[in-house]
Amino acid sequence: MKLTIRKKLFWGMTGLIMLFVALSQFLNSQFLEDYYVSEKKKQLLDIYGDINNIYQGDPETISLELEKLELITGIHIVIFNSNQKPKYRLRRIPEEPPLDFYTVPPPQLTDLQDSNPPPPSPERKQGFEKKLIQMNEDQLKEGKVVINLSKDPRIQTYFISLTTKLNNGDYLILSTPFASISESVQIANRFFLFTGLLIFIIGSIVIYFLAKKLTMPILKLNEIAHRMAKLDFSQKYQVESTDEVGQLGESINSLSTQLHAAISELTEANQKLLKDIERERRIDEMRREFISSVSHELKTPISLIQGYAEGLKENVNEDEENKNFYCDVIVDEANKMGKLVGELLDLSQIEAGTFKLDKSNFEISRLVAKVMEKYKPIFLEKELNCTLQEEPGLIVSADRFRTEQIIVNYLNNAINHVDQQKIITISIKSVQNKARVSVYNSGRPISPELLDKIWESFYKVDKARTRAYGGTGLGLSIVRAIQEMDNNRYGVLNRDGGVEFWFELDIAA
Ligand SMILES: Nc1ncnc2c1ncn2[C@@H]1O[C@H](COP(=O)(O)OP(=O)(O)OP(=O)(O)O)[C@@H](O)[C@H]1O
Ligand SMILES: [Mg+2]
Repeated sequence: MKLTIRKKLFWGMTGLIMLFVALSQFLNSQFLEDYYVSEKKKQLLDIYGDINNIYQGDPETISLELEKLELITGIHIVIFNSNQKPKYRLRRIPEEPPLDFYTVPPPQLTDLQDSNPPPPSPERKQGFEKKLIQMNEDQLKEGKVVINLSKDPRIQTYFISLTTKLNNGDYLILSTPFASISESVQIANRFFLFTGLLIFIIGSIVIYFLAKKLTMPILKLNEIAHRMAKLDFSQKYQVESTDEVGQLGESINSLSTQLHAAISELTEANQKLLKDIERERRIDEMRREFISSVSHELKTPISLIQGYAEGLKENVNEDEENKNFYCDVIVDEANKMGKLVGELLDLSQIEAGTFKLDKSNFEISRLVAKVMEKYKPIFLEKELNCTLQEEPGLIVSADRFRTEQIIVNYLNNAINHVDQQKIITISIKSVQNKARVSVYNSGRPISPELLDKIWESFYKVDKARTRAYGGTGLGLSIVRAIQEMDNNRYGVLNRDGGVEFWFELDIAA
């Protein structure tokens, strides 16, 4: 069984109450009686003192004062004169000779007692007090005050009594029954047992709820702390008091807020770091891919150049035609390498952003026409049907050199991929405030999943075919880099019986 604070509090407090009640019972039974006796003795001595004070002057007044004292204190007062004849006694007994001080009629109580049991005879009653005087004769003569605990055999009752000789020689006997004391103690103990039980029950209920109220905030704090351990900071402690628990709640709240902020920051930083790492990894991968692609692209021309150069060296004596062929291959391969290096430089320059587009306004159709003019011999040689569909007078704001580079790239690709129909169409039109240049060639469509890939460096759909025309796979990535720098769109569409590459330019204001 887990001993919670609540249970500890409850059992501790109820135990304390029980201990308190038991201890009170014990102390009462052991000492209350003695204490009461000593208190009674003190009271007798006090009354004796009082009587000493009032015992002068008018007998009538003394009698009244004595009676008053007797009624207030409940102490039985009897006075004998020096001849041991009764002088004062509150309860008048008919046969008794009239007392010197006696004036007050007998109390009604006497009537009640008259019937049952019968009133004690005066001789016997006086006998008890007389006996006290005789018993203590020697001490009384010395003027001492004697206190006795003695039994009145007549009524079988114990009395505590004080006997002394007053200044004028009268004897004073004060007595109070002892039975009432022990009974009082018993009653008090019984009552205290009852009140103790009641206190115990009420106390237990109060403590139960008090413990609950005290431990509730602790349980709540515990729950919040548990949640915090699981990185849930949504719950906050409702501070309702300024005591230690309230202060602890405030501390936990601020701890939660600060932890939450710190952990959020950390998570954010971590996510950023992960993104950075991912980007680095991708860049690294790209770099490795790039290097392997470049070395792969260079390997073929280099080995060709090597082979043909060696061949040339070994066959120097052979015919001129053979030599020329060897030289042509070497020059051709060197050109390819030159082209590759040039394109790589271009691409790295554009991608690094080290150069700016040199924008100017010019008529786009003129530029296209100029390029087409340059390609005329090739069109003728390859018997290609190249046409221009233009929207005349469209002035664009663009980098003339880079725009030509794009057109040349598209046109080269079109020439390299055109099919037997040999149709190439270049069109210029304005689309949504942009000048759109498209280059269409009849031929096989590009499979849709590769439409994005062809814009990556060194990506070639058909490697054998690309090799045949000496492509490096960099042309379209240069187009992409230029267009991204110019913040203009570009793309490719599979058309009926052919492929159309397009790009857009800003129309001059
Ligand atoms: N008009 C086209 N029709 C079909 N496929 C094309 C066309 N243009 C490009 N491609 C495909 O896209 C690939 C990438 O073209 P890109 O221009 O980037 O490289 P390349 O033409 O092979 O080499 P480079 O342009 O550097 O000489 C090509 O290898 C080819 O497979
Ligand atoms: Mg190309």
